[in-house]
Amino acid sequence: MFVHGFPLDHSMWNGQIERLSDRYRVIAPDLRGFGRSGTGEGIVTMAQFADDLAALLDFLGIDEPAALCGLSMGGYIALEFWRWYAERLQGLILCDTRTANDAPETAAGRLAVAEKVLREGSHIVADTMIPRLFSADTLQNQPHLVENIRQIIISTDPRGIAAAARGMARRADFTAELPRIRCPTLLIVGESDVITPAADMQEIAKSVPNAEFKIIPQAGHMAPLEQPEAVNAAIAGFLRRI
Ligand code: MLT
Repeated sequence: MFVHGFPLDHSMWNGQIERLSDRYRVIAPDLRGFGRSGTGEGIVTMAQFADDLAALLDFLGIDEPAALCGLSMGGYIALEFWRWYAERLQGLILCDTRTANDAPETAAGRLAVAEKVLREGSHIVADTMIPRLFSADTLQNQPHLVENIRQIIISTDPRGIAAAARGMARRADFTAELPRIRCPTLLIVGESDVITPAADMQEIAKSVPNAEFKIIPQAGHMAPLEQPEAVNAAIAGFLRRI
């Protein structure tokens, strides 16, 4: 199951869905408030999103443990899923994400963004995030990817963006929990990720007992989209081993 980042939708995983569907059952939902899922209003916590994923597995009749792969906000949600539903996890893949919660000023900034996006529209998030989401190489050489992501963000309902931003602002700190993650874990990060840098993710990998760590060259925060083949190879190898 693939869990998208903020403020995107399932289509960020198209490169993975195509490649992995021949061998695996792939599920890539739009989170509450994003894509074609109903609007999340007020606040949607990371735990609520994790509950939604568990409910989706129930709805699909999937009781056997699944591999869960989340990017960035999807990673925050995957950690909550681990906290509440560890027995449903066969493996955990954390892409371009972090395990610490927000510093107070970062959390305050998110609440301000939530208000601003409701007043002015989703494009303000696209304008601030796009330059930081991709490597310089992708910004220059893969403009269609960048434009697709811009379109997704500007067509996302501002209420969904605000609700998730508020939820991220109050998310839990998982740093002290990392040694307790027992399921096989793969950490993937773009080498030029400026939002969740590779060095920080390497530190996370050291704290998780059963973790592998993979840096993706020529990629930023959106590594699965920027370099799908390298990310697919890492995921496929991990899935074969678990
Ligand atoms: C994401 O890609 O999901 C966001 O960068 C997460 C965040 O804002 O912390």
